Amino acid sequence: MRETGGEARVAATPATVRTLQALGYRVVVEKDAGAAASYPDDAYVEAGATIVDREPAWGSDVVLGINAPGPDEIALLADDATVVALLSPALRPDLVEALAQRGITAVALDAVPRISRAQSMDVLSSMANIAGYRAVVEAAHEFGRFFTGQVTAAGKVPPAKVLVAGAGVAGLAAIGAASSLGAIVRATDPRPEVADQVTSIGGTYLPVDVEVAASTDGYAKATSADYDRRAAEIYTEQAADVDIIITTALIPGRAAPRLITASDVALMKPGSVIVDMAAAQGGNVEGSVAGERIVTANGVIILGYTDLASRLAAQASQLYGTNVANLVALLTPGKDGALTLDFDDVVQRSVTVVRDGEVTWPPPAVQVAAAPAKPAPAQDAAPAAAPDKKMSVGRKALLIGAGIVALFVVNLFAPPPLPQHFTVLMLSVVIGFYVIGKVHHALHTPLMSVTNAISGVIVVGAMLQVTSANPVVQVLAAIAILLASINIFGGFAVTRRMLAMFTKGADK
Ligand code: NAI
Repeated sequence: MRETGGEARVAATPATVRTLQALGYRVVVEKDAGAAASYPDDAYVEAGATIVDREPAWGSDVVLGINAPGPDEIALLADDATVVALLSPALRPDLVEALAQRGITAVALDAVPRISRAQSMDVLSSMANIAGYRAVVEAAHEFGRFFTGQVTAAGKVPPAKVLVAGAGVAGLAAIGAASSLGAIVRATDPRPEVADQVTSIGGTYLPVDVEVAASTDGYAKATSADYDRRAAEIYTEQAADVDIIITTALIPGRAAPRLITASDVALMKPGSVIVDMAAAQGGNVEGSVAGERIVTANGVIILGYTDLASRLAAQASQLYGTNVANLVALLTPGKDGALTLDFDDVVQRSVTVVRDGEVTWPPPAVQVAAAPAKPAPAQDAAPAAAPDKKMSVGRKALLIGAGIVALFVVNLFAPPPLPQHFTVLMLSVVIGFYVIGKVHHALHTPLMSVTNAISGVIVVGAMLQVTSANPVVQVLAAIAILLASINIFGGFAVTRRMLAMFTKGADK
């Protein structure tokens, strides 16, 4: 479908048209549907689609779109059609009702559960990722300075300081983009489990030292008054220090939490930029207006753009189209162009808002364990819980003593040269035990392959024998040299490959 209302994205690209055809569908594309996203009609025709006008396009059996259909478009739908789009069912019961009255089936792409299996269909994550990146690009465009610090002949330039509030998908994308531009990036989020993710992409996590319950569905819950009070102090401190604030805080099914107050904004330096990504849900920033660029009295620019993903239309359409094609593939198990809905499947159940005119929203809750596993309780916390498997010191001393006595007895009674060989063997075992014990488990395989070089002893021995007068010895020596060499060189090759896995940067 060609989207309206300034939306530049499109729900299918020439590449996804091919995927849909492989699933048994005949694809029609509304005229100029992809024009704003740099996908001309010719490209769709080349991919095998037919270009049609608005009415026949909306009259298809399955209608794929981005934004929810308006009343006129709902009227154009065929009687037993299936419509797949972003429907915001929790916020728009009127739309759900209007779709149900048409007796059709409605699939909400924004209701894909956040479980691993559904990640390939999660348009909200794809779009939030793009929007987070674009938020940084918009901020950089408005900000009159570099993001990265520089030392130039004309003087030293400090790096920009960026605060990202909310480290979900959009927030993490913003942290990654801002830190790769060279800024100093800090981030807050009530879910402590995101701290590692923030650090791993170059940000610093600012913890709010107030206990927060772990998320069970991958989304945040409303924060406590205690948390909000402490967080407000952090935002006030940060507002006075940072140049850019990007807010992405969202609690599903609620208005966006207010994080940055007008007095925080008043503390910011002139020329600072705030991007309120939650402007469409009421805003995280006091004074932001959905879809608008505001300049405050103290010269702070507040961007409340709600179309950030659409501002990267080609990229957004490619990811959205792929997510849609993945969902259609799930709903077309026979690859025969027949869309079916299996309510025993948690993904299909979650996304179905209306089935043949019957409202099936809301679906049963899906549990997602997003919190990291709890560390094992400390030993002294549960002394009687598990038997201590460590050997006691006395027992260890007894065993060592017994070993020394056994070695002494063997050396006393065994005929030479057995005692020397036995002593060397025992010392090798002890040294080997301690050397290997100090090597990290993950490196045991490369260690083993490098110890293949011990086969060098065989090569030396076989080389001494290869000149023997006995042809059998010659052949055996040659075979020994060949096999031992394979072991040595193969061992080094494996070691090299395995160590490459542990090196960072260019070698990787
Ligand atoms: P998400 O659910 O993955 O992340 C939201 C994050 O906010 C979560 O990590 C949550 O823990 C955090 N949060 C909740 N309450 C908070 C609080 N009081 N303080 C700090 N953090 C808090 O959502 P996602 O997908 O990352 O989207 C983020 C926002 O970006 C949403 O508001 C979404 O609507 C918006 N968005 C805006 C676009 C635009 O064009 N402006 C495009 C795409 C997304």
